[in-house]
Amino acid sequence: MKIAIASDHGGYELKEYLKEHLAKRDIELIDLGTDSAASVDYPAFGRACGEAVANGAADRGIVCCGTGIGISIAANKVKGVRCAVCTNAFMAEMCARHNDANIIAFGGRVTDKEKAAEFADIWLDTPFEGGRHSRRVDALNSM
Ligand code: RB5
Repeated sequence: MKIAIASDHGGYELKEYLKEHLAKRDIELIDLGTDSAASVDYPAFGRACGEAVANGAADRGIVCCGTGIGISIAANKVKGVRCAVCTNAFMAEMCARHNDANIIAFGGRVTDKEKAAEFADIWLDTPFEGGRHSRRVDALNSM
């Protein structure tokens, strides 16, 4: 599986930690930046990750900013993206099971690194349930 990962400065440290964590799994990472803790604007990074997933360059994406909010909004502007901000294990499970989220977002100033890695694993390991949720995801995709 290929995962595109991107952050702004607020999510940079978390991005670097998640890269190390995901490298232990059978995952190819596409790092779309940022490359340091210097201040940058999150919309470009959320968009880049969204486009990588939407155009098939990556199977899924992970985005990080200070809260996870701004960069998730940016990713969700790209058609075909279903990006979910997750702050706990239940959200990580349900965004896969019910929403078929293809990008997960974390806040580097909200969620500690170990927890974010745990949530990313849950999201990656939880299948989409389909059934009635397919109709809802189809409706999202048509917007
Ligand atoms: C940057 O200071 C901060 O606003 C950004 O990382 C993010 O939290 C926005 O949603």
